[in-house]
Amino acid sequence: MDDLRQKYLDAIAGAGDEAALEDIRLQAVGKKGEVSLKMRELGKMTPEERQTAGPALNALKDEINSALAAKKTALADAALDERLKSEWLDVTLPARDRRQGTIHPVSQVWEEVTAIFADMGFAVAEGPQIETDWYNFDALNIPGHHPARAEMDTFYMARAEGDDRPPHVLRTHTSPVQIRHMEANGAPCRIIAPGRVYRADYDQTHTPMFHQVEGLAIDKDLSMAQLKWVLEEFFSAYFGTSVKTRFRASHFPFTEPSAEVDIQCSWENGSVKVGEGDDWLEVLGSGMVHPKVLRAGGIDPDEWQGFAFGMGIDRIAMLKYGIPDLRAFFDSDLRWLRHYGFSALSVPTLHGGL
Ligand code: PHE
Repeated sequence: MDDLRQKYLDAIAGAGDEAALEDIRLQAVGKKGEVSLKMRELGKMTPEERQTAGPALNALKDEINSALAAKKTALADAALDERLKSEWLDVTLPARDRRQGTIHPVSQVWEEVTAIFADMGFAVAEGPQIETDWYNFDALNIPGHHPARAEMDTFYMARAEGDDRPPHVLRTHTSPVQIRHMEANGAPCRIIAPGRVYRADYDQTHTPMFHQVEGLAIDKDLSMAQLKWVLEEFFSAYFGTSVKTRFRASHFPFTEPSAEVDIQCSWENGSVKVGEGDDWLEVLGSGMVHPKVLRAGGIDPDEWQGFAFGMGIDRIAMLKYGIPDLRAFFDSDLRWLRHYGFSALSVPTLHGGL
């Protein structure tokens, strides 16, 4: 038995890896291992022989098992040491330089506008940028022959050959969201709908894609007075100074009466300042929602009434941040973006200042 012990303890000590160790285990104490076979022979022994051989074999088996376990741990430790030696990392090295991106002025202003209207109880609604001609025009009281259709320089989508349904359009304004929201939620409501809109137009003050924010409030007794209050409240918060508005009678098919709204400003050597002086700058269209529009949205105009407005986000971004050319907004020029962009950490909030 001493030979057996020595044989296996030596083998265990010399095992180079876990696989070799497992082979030794099977040879010694596996089902058909040498020690196991010996234990099976106990039955053939005399009781006296068995009394000494039994405990001795058990002790041998235990000794081999603990030697196996100890070696297994030692092998695992050694393997880990080896890995740690090759996988080290110098955490004191300086980090690689990474260029920081900026938040686009349109995104920043979009968030500012949302924060201000949210504070007045307006939720944010959305609609698709590819619209049916129903939502973009007809439901807004702009029938097929209406000049507003031609004036809007609409982008039309293509239909398959032989399909003579009216083509879908890239929405020319955010007003279709009014209809979608009324249909889905009914009255009363108080929403803004910021989003991208499209018109085939390109010069210093027009780009084929630009941004609007729509406003819609419907209740039993809303009037132009509340519209004016909401807009003055908005512009004063947005420009950080008390801003007067001027309402000029106008015409939109989807509002009656309609007004174009100017904000008070001054011109000084070619640059505008909002909230002072006695000049006026047109910034949005608005009015009381036309009864036909309410009806198109599934709302009874004998019971409900409300106001709506639509404002250019890019335009008020240019005004607030002194950006002269609209086209540069969408050129993706990194120098422009770094100059006019905002830090990702300057999230607009009312309490943090806008
Ligand atoms: N949809 C109009 C435009 O794009 C703006 C507007 C919205 C006017 C809502 C009145 C009411 O010019």
